[in-house]
Amino acid sequence: MKNLILFCLVVSGVSCGLLSESNGTAADDINALTLVDLGKETRKPLLTLIGLAMRNLHPCEVWSPWTPCEANTRGYYGTRTRTRQCVDKRSSENNTYKNETDIGLCEGNCPVGANITSHGYCLKLHIDKLNHENANAFCRKEGGYLINLDSAEKYEDVKNMLSGFSSSFIHIDGRRATSSSPWVYKYGSQQPFITWASGEPDNQSSDLCVVYYPSEHGCHDISCTLTRPFICEFI
Ligand SMILES: *[C@@H]1O[C@H](CO)[C@@H](O)[C@H](O)[C@H]1NC(C)=O
Ligand SMILES: *[C@@H]1O[C@H](CO)[C@@H](O)[C@H](O)[C@H]1NC(C)=O
Ligand SMILES: *[C@@H]1O[C@H](CO)[C@@H](O)[C@H](O)[C@H]1NC(C)=O
Ligand SMILES: *[C@@H]1O[C@H](CO)[C@@H](O)[C@H](O)[C@H]1NC(C)=O
Ligand SMILES: *[C@@H]1O[C@H](CO)[C@@H](O)[C@H](O)[C@H]1NC(C)=O
Repeated sequence: MKNLILFCLVVSGVSCGLLSESNGTAADDINALTLVDLGKETRKPLLTLIGLAMRNLHPCEVWSPWTPCEANTRGYYGTRTRTRQCVDKRSSENNTYKNETDIGLCEGNCPVGANITSHGYCLKLHIDKLNHENANAFCRKEGGYLINLDSAEKYEDVKNMLSGFSSSFIHIDGRRATSSSPWVYKYGSQQPFITWASGEPDNQSSDLCVVYYPSEHGCHDISCTLTRPFICEFI
């Protein structure tokens, strides 16, 4: 919208008056092409002119978010792309767009020692036991988080990752203030894909953390202070 304001100043009061008629709350939705159309519709050449000028100043929409990096291992580089739509200036009459693609270099985010799962998550199992808080701090220090089981795919990958692993509980993301408070997660969905084991959560007063229990492929609520293996995720 900077361009719009700039232009209002340049062309003086007249055009700005017209714009405010269209209700200032709509200003965010106005782009050059809207003005061109509006100018044609209302037969106000000045609006069309402003629209065309804005289009020349700012002929492209904002970039899409980057695609995920093609490289997934830290220390390895790959590419990522983003696209945006731009007015095709060769066609002055019709509002035709062309797509622009930008290609950038990026480093993978999966550290050495972590595994990329079949669904593409980067997970690292730590066998050395820590309590919930220290486990999360450990993951943060490595650049990750305690894993939030927020999709069926991730849940399945964790199951496969831990098959044959005989330890009992595994610390994962998910903590609550009291045994009747809602669960809170550090990242990802606040409504994760958690399957509670039978009879869980049992809501004992000190059971304020979620753990994953491999042999039941389900979760328990348990004390945060117990030291357990844990899984970090790198996102
Ligand atoms: C301007 O927008 C506001 C908020 O959307 C709305 O309540 C109001 O009726 C609009 N005014 C006109 C003149 O369209
Ligand atoms: C614009 O579109 C109309 C109808 O779609 C077409 O007849 C006309 O030739 C086009 N003009 C340009 C400059 O492409
Ligand atoms: C440009 O991208 C948009 C959205 O991704 C798509 O709908 C459109 O068909 C593309 N246009 C061209 C000319 O490729
Ligand atoms: C991770 O992958 C390595 C080999 O790339 C393998 O030795 C290790 O067992 C895997 N760890 C887990 C938890 O699957
Ligand atoms: C624990 O609380 C949840 C809701 O907060 C409830 O769904 C669950 O049945 C409770 N568990 C037991 C064993 O009462």
